[in-house]
Amino acid sequence: MAQNWTPGSWRQKPIQQVPEYPDAAALAATEATLATYPPLVFAGEARRLKKQLANVAEGNAFLLQGGDCAESFLEHGADNIRDFFRAFLQMAVVLTYGAQLPVVKVGRIAGQFAKPRSSNVEVLDGVTLPSYRGDIINGIDFNEASRIPNPERQLDAYRQSAATLNLLRAFAMGGYANLENVHQWMLGFIKDSPQADRYRKLADRISETMNFMQAIGISAENNPSLRETDFFTSHEALLLGYEEALTRVDSTSGDWYATSGHMIWIGDRTRQLDHAHVEYFRGIKNPIGLKCGPSLTPDNLIELIDALNPANEAGRLTLICRFGHDKVADSLPKLIRAVEKEGRKVVWSCDPMHGNTITLNHYKTRPFERILSEVESFFQIHRAEGTHPGGIHIEMTGKDVTECTGGARAVTADSLSDRYHTHCDPRLNADQALELAFLLSERMKSGRDEKRLAIANA
Ligand code: PEP
Ligand code: CO
Repeated sequence: MAQNWTPGSWRQKPIQQVPEYPDAAALAATEATLATYPPLVFAGEARRLKKQLANVAEGNAFLLQGGDCAESFLEHGADNIRDFFRAFLQMAVVLTYGAQLPVVKVGRIAGQFAKPRSSNVEVLDGVTLPSYRGDIINGIDFNEASRIPNPERQLDAYRQSAATLNLLRAFAMGGYANLENVHQWMLGFIKDSPQADRYRKLADRISETMNFMQAIGISAENNPSLRETDFFTSHEALLLGYEEALTRVDSTSGDWYATSGHMIWIGDRTRQLDHAHVEYFRGIKNPIGLKCGPSLTPDNLIELIDALNPANEAGRLTLICRFGHDKVADSLPKLIRAVEKEGRKVVWSCDPMHGNTITLNHYKTRPFERILSEVESFFQIHRAEGTHPGGIHIEMTGKDVTECTGGARAVTADSLSDRYHTHCDPRLNADQALELAFLLSERMKSGRDEKRLAIANA
């Protein structure tokens, strides 16, 4: 067990991005209530994910992580969850086909409620109010009452997470994810999108293979891996009081686990070595992520790895790189070299969203071509360094929103206002997400061909 660590030892450390709750007693009472609630996930599941991520670290699998920037209490319908899940399954199937590797599926869902902000206040028409920090903390409505942090929201976030997770488990295990349904995952509005033909062709090939397998006696009925899938949850563990209340001892191993989600990560703004978030994370045994932005130096990174993964366990730590399309070439190679030189086992994942945010017509947006460009650079750099580009981390939805510009069905600066629904950062719509998956799948296929060629020529 980590030395001198308790689920609450983070309270002795300096902390960033902490909301100011006006009523400390009410907050403490809520945290005490949460501590009596059942865990949302089990340690055994987190260990299973860690094993799959160890596979990614070793170059034998690919990580797909994605979902909302911020889940909201308002968008908690079954349709919303189903649309996300099937867009995600579509991406996963495209990636599996291209990479010919298992795809580890991790949603930013069932707990992704707390948001770090670049400013403590928001100014609108001369009025200054505290910033919105995610539905688990305060309300998005721009008025004073709504912006006051309210602990009751933590109970609502817990309940929403539980209900979301319940439906996701049903989808993943109850037949919806059956590969025989590969054609039915096509979302209504994708049917007439530029990606539809490509997807249909791929789905046809998968169906053909399934028919062949059925003819020789392997069917979804007798083979769970064809009819079920592993789907894991993740979020940024920003609100440490909530996380502490859901930190539990695993009875089989005696270790502490965060039970608010299978994987949790540290944001780019809260990764200071001697601060509260790193303190909390070092003591829990889940697989964890660390956001790596342009200000992270190689020395910094190695110190953080020392603190967060001292046993150098593969699958424990995923480095989620979010530099920006114009900075990745400068920032990434030196981090890769430091990690390689020190022999540290990590998963390298690319978040092409958070370094590519701009403002257009007063909307926060992300140009799709910059997102693609960062992903391309990430792959090229890893190929050049001889390391494994292990995964992607994206903000996406199953809905037909207009939040990121570009893509085959071009969203323009002027059409951003049509369906701009995000509670925080702009997300890829299902169409753009699928387009990104096809691009990735091509990159991975060519990487595979190169590897084969190299082996043949050796
Ligand atoms: C996020 O993932 O929504 C986020 C805030 O990212 P970062 O910490 O990388 O800025
Ligand atoms: Co975001």
